[in-house]
Amino acid sequence: MKRVDIDRYGAPEDVARCVEVADVGAPGAGEVVFDVLYFPINPADVSFCRGTYRLRPPLPATPGAECVGRVSAVGAGVSHVKPGDLVINLQRENWAERRRVRGDDVIAIPPDLDLRQAAMLRINPPTALLLLSDVVDLKPGDWVIQNVANSAVGRLVIRLARALSIRTMNVVRRDSLFDELKALGADACVVDGPDLAEAVKAKTGGAPIRLALDAVSGQATARLSACLADGGVVCNYGSMSGEDPVMPRAGLIGGGQKLVGFILGRGLATRTLDQVRVMYGELAHQLRDGYLSAPVEKVYAIEEIRAALAHAQRGERSGKILVAPHR
Ligand SMILES: NC(=O)c1ccc[n+]([C@@H]2O[C@H](COP(=O)([O-])OP(=O)(O)OC[C@H]3O[C@@H](n4cnc5c(N)ncnc54)[C@H](OP(=O)(O)O)[C@@H]3O)[C@@H](O)[C@H]2O)c1
Repeated sequence: MKRVDIDRYGAPEDVARCVEVADVGAPGAGEVVFDVLYFPINPADVSFCRGTYRLRPPLPATPGAECVGRVSAVGAGVSHVKPGDLVINLQRENWAERRRVRGDDVIAIPPDLDLRQAAMLRINPPTALLLLSDVVDLKPGDWVIQNVANSAVGRLVIRLARALSIRTMNVVRRDSLFDELKALGADACVVDGPDLAEAVKAKTGGAPIRLALDAVSGQATARLSACLADGGVVCNYGSMSGEDPVMPRAGLIGGGQKLVGFILGRGLATRTLDQVRVMYGELAHQLRDGYLSAPVEKVYAIEEIRAALAHAQRGERSGKILVAPHR
């Protein structure tokens, strides 16, 4: 079977290769084997290949934080999924044609879910959901500001916030995205830059913003802080700039603001496995109904992993890059 390995850390399109390896074999007791149908290339996978992600396993290693698969066999004692079921996998190393994993790590999803959307269910939808629920106790009518608003997470934040009557101020790098984001439910859009706070104030009429979601870091964090009300929270959950967040003293000391960090794993760890399954079930239904979705720009074959990785690192994409190992 085919699998993607990296045998050194570096530019993803240089270090990743599609290799032929032994099949995963039959499932043991409590295990599940599934065929990987699609996997996306997320910014965290790119960092993983570069060696700049928080996990830096010994090499060679297989990347891949998420995928959608179809169960081909289950071992003794596995009753919550059966052959033919669609599943997502809570564990990593998913850039392969087939996986053999612990039964408890797979979650069954509805059979009629769009497979490309299902491949992107595991990480970004719960991230957007928990960013809105776990950081600040938001009430209907409150404003939230976010950068990378046109990213997959950003679009999901817009949709989930709208369902909760929370207003979103959406920061992007080009104004050609405004109409698209407003059609999704964005309340206001603005282009990032040195005058961000003034531009935001003009659009909110000075209404307080209590939560800023930051996935750019560097000076972009400081620009979000300048838009926040006193006592507001900047939640850093990514670094598209590759820098650490810069939090100005004016916000921290003068404004009593807080800078906090978010990572999905920690959010999920505060919930039971049953709660996690219910949450994914609800998100899967919203994907199936089309309320939540992430655009896809292109699907590659697994043998084209280097081209796929190069493409995934381009700015101004219209959507995610996916790989279909069985294409
Ligand atoms: N902490 C967690 O648990 C967690 C979970 C999921 C995702 N994340 C983070 O969330 C962020 C978005 O992920 P995603 O999968 O939604 O991304 P995505 O759909 O692949 O989109 C990438 C976004 O980053 C923007 N971008 C790229 N380079 C940039 C730069 N140098 N400065 C500012 N913006 C830049 C792009 O804007 P353009 O269109 O203008 O190029 C685009 O909006 C990433 O940082 C990811 O690591 C964190």
